[in-house]
Amino acid sequence: NMPILEQCYNLMDFEAVARRVMKKTAWAYYSSGADDEITMRENHSAFHKIWFRPRILVDVEHVDFSTTMLGTKTSMPFYVTATALGKLGHPEGEVILTKAAHKHNIIQMIPTLASCSFDEIMDAAQDGQVQWLQLYVNKDRAVTKRIIQHAERRGCKALFITVDAPQLGRREKDMRSKFDDVGSNVQSTSGDAVDRSQGAARAISSFIDPSLSWKDIPWFLSVTKMPIILKGVQCVEDVLRAVEVGVHGVVLSNHGGRQLDFARSGIEVLAEVMPVLRERGWQDKIEIFIDGGIRRATDIIKALCLGAKGVGIGRPFLYAMSAYGLPGVDRAMQLLKDEMEMNMRLIGAAKIEDLNPSMVDTRGLGMH
Ligand code: FNR
Repeated sequence: NMPILEQCYNLMDFEAVARRVMKKTAWAYYSSGADDEITMRENHSAFHKIWFRPRILVDVEHVDFSTTMLGTKTSMPFYVTATALGKLGHPEGEVILTKAAHKHNIIQMIPTLASCSFDEIMDAAQDGQVQWLQLYVNKDRAVTKRIIQHAERRGCKALFITVDAPQLGRREKDMRSKFDDVGSNVQSTSGDAVDRSQGAARAISSFIDPSLSWKDIPWFLSVTKMPIILKGVQCVEDVLRAVEVGVHGVVLSNHGGRQLDFARSGIEVLAEVMPVLRERGWQDKIEIFIDGGIRRATDIIKALCLGAKGVGIGRPFLYAMSAYGLPGVDRAMQLLKDEMEMNMRLIGAAKIEDLNPSMVDTRGLGMH
């Protein structure tokens, strides 16, 4: 007696269903975090340390939470972040996320390690819907350059370079499940022979260049006109450095708790970063995104109050897709939209620009 789709009332409900219906190996890959999964749990629980300071008697009859990210309009201040191996969860893979994103006018970030080919995902887009590319940098820079320039030609609107994964983290659940079907699930890797005894994550990541450094960033800026965003920045020092090298954005992220265990949550890092940027008058020099553990519109609103331009959501859409296919992802997005509308009203904000730091109490983060 599996719950039917209409009985999923929030994003956590999809996870519970996915856990029951997914193949064990696929569940292990999607749900695992690094080491003891402390960071993975912290990602969501960090939001519980922040409380609202709502404003009353604000006219919220009409609530508009459309916004702009990296120069493009979007209906929602969240995007579908890059998660590898969509076909583990559903035979159609990432194009399901593309179709749902189109329906709700939400931006999708395409992973380097998608199960569908990059072109299949671009082809599934409709009406000029906005897509971004997540890049794992190949040891062979000629390959990387080809990927970037192809993406730009195909109309990708931004390049997110993942910088928190010089080596993939140890995800022991995933390693135990000894995934042996990986090769057939990835189309866009370098094609190197892979060691499959270490789980899906290790098997597909051998081409990633661990020597990538700040010195390489000017090269990326020189090979594309797409805005460049560093995904996986984890402290204010590196945000300042990102501004200095001239990238257009950063994602404060710990890769969904899948890389360094005991990395701090994105929302906590955001609370560290924004006051420093404002102090220097640099807050408009760079767009700040966060991801990790975002499951409720209240999580999104907290991030926006603190100064994030937008937030990425990963696992919930994978789980909705794995459990119910396109209708599942559609409903997950609709639920978030409904939650956004209600909570914007309750906090006293009619539009995104109304959200500001005075609307949250962050003393629970212990940073004062
Ligand atoms: C990821 N993430 C990720 N990030 C990235 O830059 N490249 C990738 O290939 C992947 N692959 C991937 C697979 C799976 C199964 C997960 C769960 C995550 C990290 C992802 O972009 C994002 O940082 C987190 O998923 C955000 O946390 P939540 O929303 O999953 O809690």
